[in-house]
Amino acid sequence: MKIADTLESLKETIASFKANHKTIALVPTMGNLHKGHLSLIDEAKLQADVVVVSIFVNPMQFNNAEDLDNYPKTLLKDIAQLKARGVDFLFTPDSKLIYPDGVNNHTQVEVPFLTDILCGKDRPGHFLGVSTIVCKLFNLVQPDVAIFGEKDFQQLAIIRKMASDLVLPVKVIGKPTVREKNGLAMSSRNHHLTPEQQQTAYLLNQTLCFIREEIRSGNKDFITLQQTAMQTLRSHGFKPEYIRIAKQTTLEEADANDKKLVILGAAFLGIPRLIDNVTLEL
Ligand code: PAJ
Repeated sequence: MKIADTLESLKETIASFKANHKTIALVPTMGNLHKGHLSLIDEAKLQADVVVVSIFVNPMQFNNAEDLDNYPKTLLKDIAQLKARGVDFLFTPDSKLIYPDGVNNHTQVEVPFLTDILCGKDRPGHFLGVSTIVCKLFNLVQPDVAIFGEKDFQQLAIIRKMASDLVLPVKVIGKPTVREKNGLAMSSRNHHLTPEQQQTAYLLNQTLCFIREEIRSGNKDFITLQQTAMQTLRSHGFKPEYIRIAKQTTLEEADANDKKLVILGAAFLGIPRLIDNVTLEL
């Protein structure tokens, strides 16, 4: 596996892939890799001739300096996992390379509406940072396909809309969430859960699944379902930010006639903020 942390090396490698008519799949990450990330790499291998992974803890998408500082950095372990998985090329830029004039002095790519709702409401500036870095990575790596997790459902919807609106020549592919046996969505943030919290964290997923079953069996009182779910989570020590039954593509609040739904939730459990979602087709 080739590793590059300079523009020259990146450009040279991408140019040689293109010269050899290799199709490229990109998996953007912030490192601290787990089975969820690895599932995206497996998909990337199916989708293209060469797999490029990026590891960049993007300061523009953190609205809290402490959160950025505390983000787990495990590069050597990540490299070993990527090598074992057969990744061709790892791009590990630093902040100076991505934001040469500083984070606050960089052009931004903003996807309207989707950026400001749900997680965007509670984390102002977050999705602006995500769409900007993903757009920049697309331009740097020039992938044919890019793979993202459905775990970050809103992020995926934003990237799809950005790629579509800006006619970016990249096929955006979403992959299902990889979970622990008890249903907890795998996440780098799970390391911050205490052993006791690890025993209750799966309840976020269970609560979303409960709503899905209710809707499947005909319950269309979405407001009450959302409120009850928030109460359930509070009673188990979560501090929920939202539980939302939404339309799958626009993430607007669903109404009783909608057929393609997603049930999204975000909740603090102690320090970590957990997110999850489940989809439902009626
Ligand atoms: P990160 O949190 O490292 O996630 C990288 C990719 O892994 C994202 O597409 C995310 O949705 C996916 N992922 C995370 N947990 C997953 C799980 N349990 N199952 C399946 N996929 C999972 O998301 C980001 O980084 C950043 O915002 C990024 C897109 C790299 C832009 O900086």
